[in-house]
Amino acid sequence: MTTDTSRQLRPMRAADAELLLAWRNDPAARAASHSQAPVSPATHGAWVAATLASAERRVLIAELDGLAVGMARLDREAAGQQLSWYLSAAARGKGLGRWMLAEVLLSVSGPVRAEIKSGNLASVRIAEAVGFRLQRAAQGVLHFQVE
Ligand SMILES: CC(C)(COP(=O)(O)OP(=O)(O)OC[C@H]1O[C@@H](n2cnc3c(N)ncnc32)[C@H](O)[C@@H]1OP(=O)(O)O)[C@@H](O)C(=O)NCCC(=O)NCCS
Repeated sequence: MTTDTSRQLRPMRAADAELLLAWRNDPAARAASHSQAPVSPATHGAWVAATLASAERRVLIAELDGLAVGMARLDREAAGQQLSWYLSAAARGKGLGRWMLAEVLLSVSGPVRAEIKSGNLASVRIAEAVGFRLQRAAQGVLHFQVE
């Protein structure tokens, strides 16, 4: 998907399950999520199995020099797709979030929306940098969309 071979996006595999659970339960990722409770291994295992079997959800893993550093999730909706994302704690603050979102958007067509908590300034910044525009704000959540 990219010509820079140090940075790659690839589809999620079953073997990513453990890593994804650790990222999902990281405090910053939980704080950024709508549901802040830690996810149990059993719930996560069911989610991974359902995701791998689903035609409506696509999870992409970002790799830097062959190491998984983040994930982006696309959920198909009636009017397009919803995108959500996070990076491993060690990968933050290096510009990888912006690259990952830009790369994901290259792989989709049609409207993509994202919900970002209003205090998540790094996510707002990278979303706007790749073309998302604020549609509305409600109950502490900013609703962005890119066409
Ligand atoms: C959100 C996340 C993906 C951002 O990716 P990142 O690559 O680490 O982002 P950076 O720290 O490089 O920051 C991106 C930009 O926001 C700016 N920024 C970061 N924190 C900021 C703050 N507190 N106030 C203002 N700007 C800020 C950076 O300066 C940078 O600006 P630039 O692109 O002009 O240089 C990553 O921090 C993450 O995974 N966080 C936990 C989970 C999460 O929040 N997921 C998103 C849910 S919507």
